[in-house]
Amino acid sequence: MINSETIKNRIDIISIFPEYLAPLELSLIGKAREAELLEIVVTDLRDFTADIHRTVDDTPYGGGAGMVMMPTIWGEAIDHIAANSEAQIHDLVILTPAGELFTQAKAQEMSTCAQVIFACGRYEGIDQRVTDHYRSRSEFRVHEVSIGDYVLNGGEAAALVMIEAIVRLIPGVIGNPASLEEESHTIAQDDLPEALLEYPTYTKPPLWRELAVPEVLTSGNHGLIQKWRREMALARTRRVRGLTRE
Ligand code: 6GU
Repeated sequence: MINSETIKNRIDIISIFPEYLAPLELSLIGKAREAELLEIVVTDLRDFTADIHRTVDDTPYGGGAGMVMMPTIWGEAIDHIAANSEAQIHDLVILTPAGELFTQAKAQEMSTCAQVIFACGRYEGIDQRVTDHYRSRSEFRVHEVSIGDYVLNGGEAAALVMIEAIVRLIPGVIGNPASLEEESHTIAQDDLPEALLEYPTYTKPPLWRELAVPEVLTSGNHGLIQKWRREMALARTRRVRGLTRE
């Protein structure tokens, strides 16, 4: 439902590859933007450089391979974006494989933020003082985030993943909010503290390549179906993620 209480969410992405974020015009996110449920602005970091070569990085102090992104350029870009928004609090996401793991709980938390600014760095990273500086400013909340234990060339793909997980939780973005409650990783409300993985699902035809749909699902007994689905979810969670509490 779109109403006067619906907060306007704003997402900013700062990148040296703004074209990488083109998929944000498609599908559910594109529709949410058209419906003005959220605003997404992509900014080219190089717009904040001052030299003819539009330089954003330099060699690391202390030596070593690769280049490090300069704090001066990032500071200009982030200050500019924060100053041009109505948000009182700016959630700044620094994308780095050294960050804390992104989870459904984090997505839920960020879906309620007025403005989330994604800073996409290359994997050698952004000068640490960018994080340290914005952590010292009360109008910012800084999150160093990774989407998993593997290394990407830059934060752009990670930003796309996070934005998809966050945006679908914004009220009004998904047509049937009940579908959010049942799915995998929805924070367990009842007796289980861990996220349960989803039970297997089936549709027509009833028999396909000699494989039948489990009988219970065509029994019409909703109590039995619920019980079966919960058992399957628990078994799957145990199998692929290790033991659950039960
Ligand atoms: Cl956020 N950035 C990079 N460069 N690699 C990653 C990542 C982020 N998350 C997992 N791997």
